[in-house]
Amino acid sequence: MTESPDPVERARAVLAAARRPIALTGAGVSAESGVPTFRGPGGLWRRHRPEDLATPEAFARDPRLVWEWYAWRREIVRGCRPNAAHRALARWARGRAVTLVTQNVDGLHAEAAREAGSPPPIELHGSLFRTRCTGCDARRAARAPLDLSAALPACAECGALLRPDVVWFGEPLDDGLLARAFRAAASADACLVVGTSAIVHPAASVAVASLRAGAALVEVNPEPTPLSAHAAVALRRPAADVVPGILA
Ligand code: OAD
Repeated sequence: MTESPDPVERARAVLAAARRPIALTGAGVSAESGVPTFRGPGGLWRRHRPEDLATPEAFARDPRLVWEWYAWRREIVRGCRPNAAHRALARWARGRAVTLVTQNVDGLHAEAAREAGSPPPIELHGSLFRTRCTGCDARRAARAPLDLSAALPACAECGALLRPDVVWFGEPLDDGLLARAFRAAASADACLVVGTSAIVHPAASVAVASLRAGAALVEVNPEPTPLSAHAAVALRRPAADVVPGILA
């Protein structure tokens, strides 16, 4: 058999042959849903300093500022729907041994998974739509719009201040989720990486671990990343354009 010169065909062949694939996604997979990325043009970290808004120190210094920023992001994302890439990934994961790992906190993979009836993604960086208690550590779903006009959100159980249940810079990721992601990477035979700059670790290390395990890497990203040199196929196109085709 000869290898197709068409990179889309090659990506499709790699992914169709995989028995234990893993997918790692970042902000770019949600770009066409209208969710801002972090580092690209118009990205959140172009306009804001992460150390002012996404660290435990920032929250300790000014919890209202941090909550207002997260309330703003929640409102943007609330108006966004999964795009063709989220939906294709969710359909791909239905009834197959696919592990979907995301750095995104927008919940769009989870929404697409619910619609498709496939397993939920591993959300390594948490969720905009969950809170975590700074006192008793209880985590709760929190989808309703936040009213920050008076007091900041407080725990219904213990009364302590709530925080967004997202991972901030300088904080460890959830051990259990990370272990599941690395376990899947260690036995992966293909790794589909979509829409991440691949510079934030340990998330990006999940893809690196799959490469070490011998996985063939397919990258979907209009821009090159540190992973590109290791990719069997790199597709320089927007996710919603190309992901449905390579998972068909
Ligand atoms: P970035 O904003 O760093 O990178 C987004 C990537 O998506 C870039 O490589 C873009 O080239 C690519 N991209 C843009 N539009 C795309 C499209 N339509 N289709 C495919 N790719 C596209 O976002 P992440 O890599 O997700 O962490 O950032 C990683 C982490 O850094 C985030 O989870 C967040 C951030 O700080 C925390 O908040 C802890």
